[in-house]
Amino acid sequence: MPTSTRKIAFLGTGKLNQALLRGLSLRPPAYKLAASVRSPESRARLEAAFEGLSVTLDNQELVQGASYVILGVKPHAALEVVQALKDSLPQGTTLVSLCARLPLARLREILSTRPDVKLVRLMPNTACEVGAGLLGVSCENESSPEPELLEIFSRLGQVRVIPERDMDVFTILGACTPAFFLKMAESLGRAARGNGLDEDFSRQALGQVLIGAGQLLQSSKLSAQDRITQIATPGGVTAEGLARLDELQLEAASVQAFESALAKCQSLKL
Ligand SMILES: NC(=O)c1ccc[n+]([C@@H]2O[C@H](COP(=O)([O-])OP(=O)(O)OC[C@H]3O[C@@H](n4cnc5c(N)ncnc54)[C@H](OP(=O)(O)O)[C@@H]3O)[C@@H](O)[C@H]2O)c1
Repeated sequence: MPTSTRKIAFLGTGKLNQALLRGLSLRPPAYKLAASVRSPESRARLEAAFEGLSVTLDNQELVQGASYVILGVKPHAALEVVQALKDSLPQGTTLVSLCARLPLARLREILSTRPDVKLVRLMPNTACEVGAGLLGVSCENESSPEPELLEIFSRLGQVRVIPERDMDVFTILGACTPAFFLKMAESLGRAARGNGLDEDFSRQALGQVLIGAGQLLQSSKLSAQDRITQIATPGGVTAEGLARLDELQLEAASVQAFESALAKCQSLKL
């Protein structure tokens, strides 16, 4: 990772912040990257996994000199962490919160004496790890994110600037539905294996199928249903499988999965 005097600090290095670090390792920005952990064992693991990453056990030390602080702890821990850091954050830094459900207004209450600290909410997904993520970004008072920050995020995938009120729905769309599609891929892979194909071959092939289907969705204004109609000849093989999915009510199941996930997200208490 290249170094520079500018620094991005990853506070909390769980699944998501590590996905962001991996993604940035593929196309490193000209920043010094630093991270905090809570045990010497985690520090050793992280240093081994990310060459050149500066790792500390001390959050106060981590944020020193940081232009951006990426807050990647669980939402219930975030308020306490920010409270402890409020006087240590560098002048003019930007605090980027990954915390689902945590409104920027709650962070601003804690940082009411630090109007110089800019607040941003980011909802990425784990595909940021391979530079193919989807990242929703909201700023306080629906202001525009700094171009420099958007450039960093764009190294991780496609960025959408959205109003903060849409964050919950975006969380399900961007961060949860990859698991829904992968669940289907798991089942289809099992069926392929049951009919004689090799496990690794099936996994790789289904990965390419998902990439291709995604690119078809993004390459024109044709809807998913339009693309299905192109693929499925009436009375043909694909149509037979789709009819079975209709009988088994895949559509209702998918809508209910989305709605249930959204209701769960909206019920989370901080
Ligand atoms: N996973 C996703 O796909 C996803 C998607 C969108 C948004 N998010 C959001 O991203 C955030 C992180 O989620 P995650 O799935 O990455 O959680 P996670 O794997 O549990 O990671 C949280 C990390 O924070 C560390 N931590 C906790 N308190 C800390 C402190 N005081 N100082 C330093 N580190 C501390 C934990 O350390 P220990 O290991 O020592 O406990 C852990 O490594 C959450 O707010 C979540 O809402 C997650």
